[in-house]
Amino acid sequence: MSKILITGSDGMLGTDLIKHCHDLGYETLALNRKKLDITDRASTKDLIESYKPTFVIHTAALTNVDFCEQNDQVAFQVNGCGTENIAYYSNKVNATVVYISSCGLFGDEIRAYSEHDNVQLKTKYAKSKYMGEQKAIQWCDRYFVVRPGWLFGGNINHKKNFVYNRYLESLNNSSISSAVDKFGCPTYTKHLSTKITDLLNTDYYGTYHITNQGFCSRYDYVKTIIDNMGIKTEVKQVDSKYFIRNAPVPDSEILNNNNLSSKSLGLLPSWESALEEYIRLLKSQI
Ligand SMILES: NC(=O)c1ccc[n+]([C@@H]2O[C@H](COP(=O)([O-])OP(=O)(O)OC[C@H]3O[C@@H](n4cnc5c(N)ncnc54)[C@H](OP(=O)(O)O)[C@@H]3O)[C@@H](O)[C@H]2O)c1
Repeated sequence: MSKILITGSDGMLGTDLIKHCHDLGYETLALNRKKLDITDRASTKDLIESYKPTFVIHTAALTNVDFCEQNDQVAFQVNGCGTENIAYYSNKVNATVVYISSCGLFGDEIRAYSEHDNVQLKTKYAKSKYMGEQKAIQWCDRYFVVRPGWLFGGNINHKKNFVYNRYLESLNNSSISSAVDKFGCPTYTKHLSTKITDLLNTDYYGTYHITNQGFCSRYDYVKTIIDNMGIKTEVKQVDSKYFIRNAPVPDSEILNNNNLSSKSLGLLPSWESALEEYIRLLKSQI
């Protein structure tokens, strides 16, 4: 039976991915940071060599973009060197590696970027995630590099649950603000998980942009969350300069799922229907 090792298992994607892999009947080894710190090369070697996974899905990362901007050595250590540890030892046991990368690897021109576009690494976070991609490609005979859209999903205990946090913010304020000049593809972790396991059943190795279909501004995203939640709080349209940030995040994180299409692997549903589905689930938990 195929065995899947998943890093970052307490994270937003990791949580939904493990559930999905269990549902499909895979044997899984879920590794949170306590069980495996990916920067610890010796522990990474021991865990991978003793479990001998068929697949390794590597979701663990430092994901706070502003923190990474000010602590780039830590970002490179975790997102770059940590990925190298995972990639190197996974390949030694002949595992196929899925490396979860980023949608923030491109620029400010408002358009959809495909896998064939050259990257423009504006932030330290982007540089560290791209370093992770290069390590996966360098060390793995069989790899999938997956660049997802703006992720939502997980549960209300996840500190970075974007949807739940907007809900709380809207309950505590008469109005909330959101940027009209930043664009991306909101993507449900549960849907992304299905596409990741679809890839495992192929030998179409390479790089994939995987998002729910369509794109929107941050403002559209937040407004749709608040409307779906059935809350009357006003959402104000602001320029992104309104939010003081350390990292110069690109204006466009819109991804075109070119490689999924060209290999007839099927596309995910629209971000609006995905968000509706997730908010129905969230409402049943709060
Ligand atoms: N969120 C997004 O919008 C988005 C968009 C595109 C791509 N991605 C990528 O998708 C992946 C999953 O994102 P997510 O939103 O699920 O992130 P998340 O909730 O922040 O989960 C990441 C997990 O990695 C763990 N981690 C951090 N440093 C580690 C280390 N040294 N060793 C082992 N584990 C470590 C974290 O543990 P602690 O909580 O203990 O730090 C956390 O549980 C990441 O690779 C991210 O770069 C995310």
